[in-house]
Amino acid sequence: MSSSSKKNSTTLLAANDKSTLHQNLEFTAIEQYKLLRTNLNFTLPQGEKCPVIGITSAMRGEGKSTTAINLSYVLAEKGSNVLLIDGDLRMPSVAKKMKINNDRGLTDLLMGSDARMSDFRSELLSNWYVVPSGDIPPNPSELLGSKRMQLILNELKQSFDYIIIDLPPVNLVSDALSISEMLSGMVVVIREDYSEKKDIADCFRQLSFSDVNVLGCVINSSKSGSGTYNKYKKSRSYKKYVYYRTSSKDDTE
Ligand SMILES: Nc1ncnc2c1ncn2[C@@H]1O[C@H](COP(=O)(O)OP(=O)(O)OP(=O)(O)O)[C@@H](O)[C@H]1O
Ligand SMILES: [Mg+2]
Repeated sequence: MSSSSKKNSTTLLAANDKSTLHQNLEFTAIEQYKLLRTNLNFTLPQGEKCPVIGITSAMRGEGKSTTAINLSYVLAEKGSNVLLIDGDLRMPSVAKKMKINNDRGLTDLLMGSDARMSDFRSELLSNWYVVPSGDIPPNPSELLGSKRMQLILNELKQSFDYIIIDLPPVNLVSDALSISEMLSGMVVVIREDYSEKKDIADCFRQLSFSDVNVLGCVINSSKSGSGTYNKYKKSRSYKKYVYYRTSSKDDTE
């Protein structure tokens, strides 16, 4: 890829001019996120008013936040009311990636602050809301698995069509598992040429042990035709899941 085309292939997150956010995604990448959007509707439980979808991975840096932001964007772009929540209360990145204020966020909602949803409306799409992490709490796992979190989600489900939650990696901390009962399902991001097979297997073992409904896997940074899809697909512990590819090739942070 030439350096100029590389510059144009940034993910949604790195856009400076928010009005052209969409155009900052490489065509193939946006198409793949749209495919993910379509396919999710086949794997989500039928008839649920507002599915709550967690995004996780085995380890750090596999592209969870990138996927959460881009997926929530393409869902909103189609007209749904979408809420993206940064549920990575240890190393949050949504606010930074989207260049939005993190003064108020999920921890404020959990602490019962008077934050209103209108505070979280994105500048880009009027039907896309983004709740960043807020201040980092000392007990993220307990907060994510708390009754208060369940109450907040139940309330938010009345106002949205989809809720996407960016979560920490399964193999490192228990946060994603502790909120998993409140989710309609989980999308697992696997980064090509980065994720170790053993780590992915551990991740799926834990998800399965906790009875998490895995909606599918995103093979991030996938090179079409590389054969990696088959490599992952045929591995015993996770062959039953549906796979989607994304291939935004630039790292612009
Ligand atoms: N498909 C991709 N191609 C190239 N770079 C990518 C791709 N997806 C993500 N990145 C970059 O990789 C880094 C990690 O991505 P991201 O922050 O989305 O991962 P993460 O799983 O949320 O990480 P963490 O576990 O630290 O929260 C970022 O710098 C991001 O810009
Ligand atoms: Mg992240």
